[in-house]
Amino acid sequence: MQRNSLILEDRPINHSLSLTDSHSLPEEDKSVLQIWGGNPLHGHVKISGAKNSALAIMAGAILCPDDCRLRNVPSLVDVARMSQILAALGLKIERNGDTLDIDARHLQQSQAPYELVSQLRASFFVIGPVLARLGAARVPLPGGCAIGARPVDLHVRGLQAMGAEVHIDHGMVHAYVPGRNPKLKGAKIYLDYPSVGATETLMMAATLAEGETTLENAAQEPEVVDLANFCRAMGARIRGAGTNTIVISGVPNLHSVDYPIIPDRIEAGTFLVAGAITHSEITISPVVPDHLTAVIAKLQDIGAKVIAEEPNCLRLVPGRLRATDIETLPYPGFPTDMQAPFMALLTKSEGDSVITETVFENRLGHVAELNRMGADIRVKGKHALIRGVSMLSGAPVVATDLRASAALVIAALAADGKTTIQRLHHLDRGYYDLEGKLRQLGAKIERVQDKTDAGVEADQTLTAPSQILTPPQMQS
Ligand code: UD1
Repeated sequence: MQRNSLILEDRPINHSLSLTDSHSLPEEDKSVLQIWGGNPLHGHVKISGAKNSALAIMAGAILCPDDCRLRNVPSLVDVARMSQILAALGLKIERNGDTLDIDARHLQQSQAPYELVSQLRASFFVIGPVLARLGAARVPLPGGCAIGARPVDLHVRGLQAMGAEVHIDHGMVHAYVPGRNPKLKGAKIYLDYPSVGATETLMMAATLAEGETTLENAAQEPEVVDLANFCRAMGARIRGAGTNTIVISGVPNLHSVDYPIIPDRIEAGTFLVAGAITHSEITISPVVPDHLTAVIAKLQDIGAKVIAEEPNCLRLVPGRLRATDIETLPYPGFPTDMQAPFMALLTKSEGDSVITETVFENRLGHVAELNRMGADIRVKGKHALIRGVSMLSGAPVVATDLRASAALVIAALAADGKTTIQRLHHLDRGYYDLEGKLRQLGAKIERVQDKTDAGVEADQTLTAPSQILTPPQMQS
């Protein structure tokens, strides 16, 4: 098996963005996507490993004083960034295809570098495992982001309940366990909100703590369960993951593991929506249909059918699209990460729909861009009122965050004429080769450099609100 020493990404992320050096991620991708709408899709899509699982499990690998092999790791910019953070902490990372080998034997550094943490909120989650292993951790505050304030108070309070002293100064969270035996202590922790990140941070911290930790009102997302399963495969004692009460009995040590990441339910949902909006029959696999219950239910409400072909394969059978109402909620409710793609779908569904975003306070940046394409959406507080239109028209648009980018791609597939999407660095954080997979289904889509007429044209026609939306430093 050919191995690349400390090469974090050994194959192209997309046509223009190739990461071959562990310390040089591209500043910002200057390419744009051009999509000519109106082409029906057909065929099969292979779903990649789950981004959010991969990021949490990579942090979890810090807990193991040995080698871990992760399989089905998606080749994404966020994964490359997380790899850089682990490398900065002293871990050895080797990538070979979709396998990632992480050797945390030489975890030496308790401080995560600001430049990296500031670009990826999930990297804050390393605070739990670093503290559990070294008794001290210093991680910069992740700060604000485009989709909301996203504080880390629940992470911090949970660590304090486990006996850590935590001080925040100059934007840095300093956590340490006082005393000669710097071991976290089991505790009963109630989370005010079932935060995915806080549940993951505290679950990881508790695996090596002395005694039992109970997390009440814990997040139940499949990615939390995946992280728990990964930790259990290393010898951790965790029960209840996937319910709102998780109990972790600390163990002194964990051991080496070979672990496959679950399929990405958000990528899967995005392709189902792409099939529905283009009235196309497509299949997707591998998926865990149970992870998509809320998404499938809403697709059926809207008029598309989703049929389980095999246990891990779904077929989307299109139908006439009609309006529905959606409220985003923690799992098993409707996922906030699918809100923007569904909004694109509802723009072309007959009747009036309401989407209510309850998880993040500022996650409707795509509305202005969808309206630029002819959609009829009004925002009132956390509600978006969508009046279905018979036609969307291609236009130059700007991606404002990761899932907003996917929404624009979906709208463009169903729009009349050409859409040009700028700021693709958002898309590349969370979708592996989206355009390649869509092209394989028959979409007319290509990535070109921004120097082309398309980019210039897009720059010239943008109006103020879109221009003001600075690309966020911090991401979901
Ligand atoms: C994770 C996912 C993201 C998804 C989100 C909700 C990763 C890498 N990202 O993000 O894709 O959209 O779950 O499903 O897994 N909050 C606090 N205090 C805290 C922590 C969170 O107030 O200490 C708030 C946040 O501001 C937000 C809400 O809780 O309004 C949900 O956040 P959380 O579940 O923590 O999301 P993330 O883990 O950041």
